[in-house]
Amino acid sequence: MCGIVGVLGDHEAAPLLVAALGRLEYRGYDSAGIATVNAGRLDRRRAVGKLVNLSDLLVHEPLPGKAGIGHTRWATHGAPTLANAHPQRARRVAVVHNGIIENFRALRDELGGQGIGFESDTDTETVAHLTQTYLDDGLAPREAAARALDRLEGAFALLFLFEGEDDLMIAARKGSPLAVGHGDGEMFVGSDAIALAPLTNRITYLEEGDRAVITRAGVEIFDATGDLVLREVRTIEIDATRVEKGGYKHFMAKEIAEQPAVLGDALRHYLGEEGTRIELPGDIDFSGVTRITMVACGTAYLACLTAKYWIERLAGLPVDVDVASEFRYREPPIPGGTLAVFVSQSGETADTLAALRYCAGRADRIVSVVNVAESSIARESDLALPILAGAEIGVASTKAFTCQLGVLALLALEAARQCGRLSPAALADHLTALRAMPGRFNAALALQDRIEALARRLAEVTDVLFLGRGAMYPLALEGALKLKEISYIHAEGYASGELKHGPIALVEKTVPVIVMAPHDRLFDKTVSNMQEVMARGGPVLLITDARGAAEAGSGVWETLVLPEAPELFAPMLYALPVQLLAYHTAVAKGTDVDQPRNLAKSVTVE
Ligand code: F6R
Repeated sequence: MCGIVGVLGDHEAAPLLVAALGRLEYRGYDSAGIATVNAGRLDRRRAVGKLVNLSDLLVHEPLPGKAGIGHTRWATHGAPTLANAHPQRARRVAVVHNGIIENFRALRDELGGQGIGFESDTDTETVAHLTQTYLDDGLAPREAAARALDRLEGAFALLFLFEGEDDLMIAARKGSPLAVGHGDGEMFVGSDAIALAPLTNRITYLEEGDRAVITRAGVEIFDATGDLVLREVRTIEIDATRVEKGGYKHFMAKEIAEQPAVLGDALRHYLGEEGTRIELPGDIDFSGVTRITMVACGTAYLACLTAKYWIERLAGLPVDVDVASEFRYREPPIPGGTLAVFVSQSGETADTLAALRYCAGRADRIVSVVNVAESSIARESDLALPILAGAEIGVASTKAFTCQLGVLALLALEAARQCGRLSPAALADHLTALRAMPGRFNAALALQDRIEALARRLAEVTDVLFLGRGAMYPLALEGALKLKEISYIHAEGYASGELKHGPIALVEKTVPVIVMAPHDRLFDKTVSNMQEVMARGGPVLLITDARGAAEAGSGVWETLVLPEAPELFAPMLYALPVQLLAYHTAVAKGTDVDQPRNLAKSVTVE
């Protein structure tokens, strides 16, 4: 949520900043801007809307200078206007910011009382002016920034640039991630390592509370207590091909198509050579575990909800699943024997991180399932299980969801094994079934043309319902979430059995009902619910397997037939047509698939 970059380089900064912002645009795209210092002179360019608008502006109004900072914004305080775009500036200081300064109103009133006027509605401008007052008091830039930072409350990442300082950037991390990149005689800053990928792969991650004074010669880092500290310089491997569209029209299309490969990689990572043994790191021990609490947001939450079905069924352990924003303020009791599991693609979601911190010291053990291995959630967990999906750039989560499911399925199987509920033979059968899932994905991807044709029809409606039962219920929710977030069509997911308790009132011929019903032990029940829809004129799109299609009877609008999959793991497979339906509907409607309105990839504010 908001992307930050900084360059102290040997070359013109503007093109490097714009390219790096392009790699961060998935974090926000309401406006973008850069500031540079050139022979001591601080100046900035900003544009509302996508980054391309800033690029266009720079063609007409270039911004020279080899030191610069940049920002791509997801609006929190203040509408996405030019005045609210970053960098925010007071006279001699420019600031880019990700997060929220919670006490900005008090600071703004205080500064207003000193006669300082504000151009924007942002909390960030307050930081710039506050720092400027300390410069006016005669403090040097690094002291002025430090003094200002001491007064800020909230969760944020900040980067400062100063007039008259061609070789200085100051960065601070409190709640939002920041990575410092080391070049040869050049230094960089980014919200994540992806932003810096072509510039350097030598990265230092700032820790919570760190402040960094950066010059071309290197970085000095001070921890939350003000002590000078040494932080590790890591060599990060970022597969550049995974952050490019690779011939696809959208990242989302590419990421959907990558699922057989990445799920296969993730499963191989956690299964022994032979693929017959689960090898989770850190000797995860379920012996004292009496219950599991799972917490996440959005699609990651729905992965948890699916895993609840698996863990309860396989391991017989009770599982609570919570939305992080509710969990953190409800402050539920965490009895002894609780294993707390946090699932997050980005590993930076503010609510999930806060929920994790609530559980630290209360739960017996904290396990996270993350895509970004260096993320805050991963680092603050006792054990982090990477899902190895590779960079997910499309705002709508696709391959991360299926890889989350893959890793959670292994966790469920391992819990069941340790709880003595799975014989070696039964475990081997489940692992064989799981290893076969990526292959089945290809058959689902082969339905693309039919789904595209159906999506053209869906693009004309205003409401869609999704129904599923058992482990297909979370997928009904996921189908609705995916469709609404990228096509802006109103969609709701329900447990099939809940239909007659209210939602059936919505059924009519203009409201398609998408029913996910593999031929499993619950199939007949779901088909009954489907009949209830059809009896009321609702057009049903049935997603099932060959046996399901044969037994569903007549009257459905359309049927999509998937390969047969074991009941337990079918949700992974059924995720694909649901993603493809959302994708092609959005394409048919002409919406911005990879960067849907109002959304950002990494939700680092609550
Ligand atoms: C939906 C989607 C979001 C995220 C949610 C959590 O397609 O992507 O609902 O799943 O914002 O994000 P992470 O997984 O990064 O914690």
